[in-house]
Amino acid sequence: MAKIPSNVIDSIREQSNIVDVIGQYVQLKKSGKNYLGLCPFHNEKTPSFSVAEDKQIFHCFGCGKGGNVFRFIEEIEHIPFSEAVLKVADLEQIPIDNALRQINHETGESSSSPAIQLHEKAVQFYHHILVNTEVGQGALDYLHQRGVTEDTIEEFQIGFAPPQRTFLERIFRNESLPAESFLESGLFIEKDDHSLIDRFYQRIMFPIRNSQGKTIAFSGRWFEMDSEDQEDQPKYLNSPETNLFNKREVLFNLDKAKSTIRKEGTIILFEGFMDVIAAWQVGVQNGVASMGTSLTEQQIQQIERLSQKLLFCYDGDNAGQNATFRGIELLREHSRLKLSAMRLPEKLDPDEYIRKYGGDAFVQVLNHQQLTPFLFTMDYLATQFHLENEQEKLAYLEQILKELNYVDSVLEQDSYLTKIAMQFDVQREALVQQFQVFKREQRRKLVQAKNKNSPNGIVPLMPLKQKKTQLQKAEEILLYRMTTDTSYRVKFKQQEGVFPEEQYQELFVLLDTYLDVEESFDYAKFLDFLQEEALKELMIAIGSANHSAEGSDQEFHDLMKQLKIYTYQQKIHQKQHELQQASQVGDGELQVTLAMEIVNLTRRLKNID
Ligand code: CTP
Ligand code: MN
Repeated sequence: MAKIPSNVIDSIREQSNIVDVIGQYVQLKKSGKNYLGLCPFHNEKTPSFSVAEDKQIFHCFGCGKGGNVFRFIEEIEHIPFSEAVLKVADLEQIPIDNALRQINHETGESSSSPAIQLHEKAVQFYHHILVNTEVGQGALDYLHQRGVTEDTIEEFQIGFAPPQRTFLERIFRNESLPAESFLESGLFIEKDDHSLIDRFYQRIMFPIRNSQGKTIAFSGRWFEMDSEDQEDQPKYLNSPETNLFNKREVLFNLDKAKSTIRKEGTIILFEGFMDVIAAWQVGVQNGVASMGTSLTEQQIQQIERLSQKLLFCYDGDNAGQNATFRGIELLREHSRLKLSAMRLPEKLDPDEYIRKYGGDAFVQVLNHQQLTPFLFTMDYLATQFHLENEQEKLAYLEQILKELNYVDSVLEQDSYLTKIAMQFDVQREALVQQFQVFKREQRRKLVQAKNKNSPNGIVPLMPLKQKKTQLQKAEEILLYRMTTDTSYRVKFKQQEGVFPEEQYQELFVLLDTYLDVEESFDYAKFLDFLQEEALKELMIAIGSANHSAEGSDQEFHDLMKQLKIYTYQQKIHQKQHELQQASQVGDGELQVTLAMEIVNLTRRLKNID
């Protein structure tokens, strides 16, 4: 990939805001003048990941990762620097030269990637057929009759793929789109004679967009024109997996829902696209759906970056309730999301519920009838047993007591115990005792599992960062002041100051060079200027530490004194070492000279004020 000119890099960095960019991956909370969140680069329960808006840098006090906005994207997306730069431009919608984007074709994600171009064109085509043509009229009437409004059809760019399977290729060719990409786009099927026919036909088309809002696939719902051309077709057909489209990663509507999810702290998970769309239309705009499969690890990770809470709003039928139960089981083990679930009446799916009872009723139910995972599970498991049979009732009670282990709050546990006792007419005390037994069992299992992971039963901790010495602290404050207060740099040079430790001296030389050409200091820019990893880390540590707001002459003097003391101590040390060697070889003259020098140095050390 070609190099991006440095002025372009600078301008993208200057126009972007690291808080916005990181905010799309990590949930950030304002804390003082910085933002805090859970570090995406290591596992942690209490936030030690900090983003400084004024310095435009991030830093994790736990694992030590840090840098500017480009570094963040490199690390989180596992992409090289130049791609990270373009990605930041994309995320922040900073216009950049198309020639540059062309360079970026390897990522497969830039707006001009051929497969995306084809998809954008196909969206337009299918949408046009649905809205403006005779061929699409039947499907359009059907959507209207289902209550989907014009606005919604526009918003989601819903379309129709006509029954003839020859349109798309002709349109692509007319537009001189890159023919070599047709097949890999997944929009066609290759016949034996290598000619291409449209994959989707006679289907209502839902564009599937990635989280950046680019269409990367379709899902088509079979639509019968009239009962004569009955075919045995699956209700929904998705694009095949391609370079762009990984079913396991995509969440339908995440791009549009993102901002509401972040604002409300909650994401709603639906089973079907039609549910997401119907809910959107009545103002519930934080809904997404997976692609007809159960949630995957990748999807969970994406959700966790945006949201604290997840609400399952699956269909009210058995399949939907089973899926909700499995979802709860999966997520309570594998995520920190706070869960809740809906049970819609009459086996309705959300879209049917809205059509039957209206949007207001749906919003009401959503707001006031959410079940905690425990209450959902209690009701759900009740349907799996014949509770009128005494033996099954006992088995059921045992199982829900085990479930009670997953409830974190003791208060909640307590109130559930009361509820169970009343509902099933058993002694509360007996329940409590049985519950204690399960709790101990559970704890034993946990301990065993832990022991398996680490042989001596010790959970490995992160390597502790070495404590800084007094000298290092002084060096860091000096360097820090030089970034904010010119007088420190000027005086330091006047006094021919030297940092005793090599890394700091190196950083100083580079900082000095940088400040000679730049008018003011900019952390994010300086980090790109520093090439070496270790120096970058050091600079981030310096920028992220808690220093007092302003320096003073006194402070400068004290810091310089520490540097000088150390320098003399080092010199004396060195001479003592030489003296030892001289006495070993019996060089009397050298011994005298060295001894004199040591006396001299010691006197000067004492006189440092
Ligand atoms: N699905 C699929 N293939 C099918 C049926 C369903 O991939 N043959 C997936 C689709 O992603 C669909 C979801 O499962 O969105 C839910 O299916 P279903 O409940 O049948 O769809 P609805 O949203 O109820 O669709 P409609 O109301 O249009 O019948
Ligand atoms: Mn439905």
